[in-house]
Amino acid sequence: MSTVLTTTAIISGLCALFAIILTIADKYIADYGEVNLIINDEKEYTVDGGNSLLDTLRNEKIFIPSACGGKGSCGYCKVKVLEGGGQVLATEKPWLSPEELQDNIRLSCQCKVKENIKIEIPEELFNVKEYKVTVVDIQKMTDKIKKFRFQLPEGEKISFKPGQYIQIKAPEYEGNTEEVYRAYSVASSIKDENHLEVLIGYTGGICTTYMHKFVEVGTELDLNGPYGDFYYHDDDSEIVMVAAGTGFAPIRSILYHMKDNDIKRKARFYFGARTEDDLFLLDELKMFEEELYDFKFMPTLSRVPEDSSWVGDRGRVTNSIDKYLQDSGNYTAYLCGSPVMIQSIVESLNKKNIPDDKIYFDEF
Ligand code: FES
Repeated sequence: MSTVLTTTAIISGLCALFAIILTIADKYIADYGEVNLIINDEKEYTVDGGNSLLDTLRNEKIFIPSACGGKGSCGYCKVKVLEGGGQVLATEKPWLSPEELQDNIRLSCQCKVKENIKIEIPEELFNVKEYKVTVVDIQKMTDKIKKFRFQLPEGEKISFKPGQYIQIKAPEYEGNTEEVYRAYSVASSIKDENHLEVLIGYTGGICTTYMHKFVEVGTELDLNGPYGDFYYHDDDSEIVMVAAGTGFAPIRSILYHMKDNDIKRKARFYFGARTEDDLFLLDELKMFEEELYDFKFMPTLSRVPEDSSWVGDRGRVTNSIDKYLQDSGNYTAYLCGSPVMIQSIVESLNKKNIPDDKIYFDEF
């Protein structure tokens, strides 16, 4: 029995070693030369083979969303590969649905460019640009959340839709040896094209540590964008906004858009927090209540002590949905928060007969 186990262990070890040697050889020895990259049947580039599709596109200044720095752990970097992508790797499969696999969708960070390759990407990704910005203001919102204001170089502008996001690059720093990009929703008005604001909550991750512990006023940052299909849609329905923590960011951009354009729609913002200490930008929310056509901020606190003087709603934010929304009302919902929170809110909204195509969400 022990001979069988030892033999199995040796064979497994040799297989693993062989796989590592092949990977290293592929990385450092294999020379794929120049290959053609054709995008959307109209744009053709000659590129060096051997890099991931994500990096190859980035070298051509075409930016695909990627929140994990190309490690295959966010699922953001999907691209349709029509020819030349090779086999779908085991690292891609968990992120691709059967329909996506059928439709030749790949994770561009895992798919390597080794031969002529033909891909399709959404046209709007050609509008994504890279910017070098300067941090001009940092404000503490709560114990964990800071608001950062960035200035673009003189004369440069960024145009985006209210609700979209950008990706900020965290460079190497003391204690971190890798460069990563992380996604953050823009929290500011689309009218202020020379500035961007973001809300960043400290999680201990590479980028939040960089932003909270190393960045100061005057720091220069690289970012790119805009990205995302979560943004304001205009119609006459009542707007239901639901967020927690930094999920406030895209909602704030939408509120500024409504104010700047004098949009006359009823809107309610249900914000889930634990205690009053987790509420922030309250003066600004009051300003929106005064200046927008019909807007109310409706925070719900889940951990407020019984004997506190808090007079607002208590419990989970889904309780507010159940309590305030009418059955089959004419609503459009914008949800920003964790996947678990969003799933429970979508269930509450569906119970009110709000169809999925009237529910937009931004998971983070
Ligand atoms: S960049 Fe995150 S999975 Fe590809």
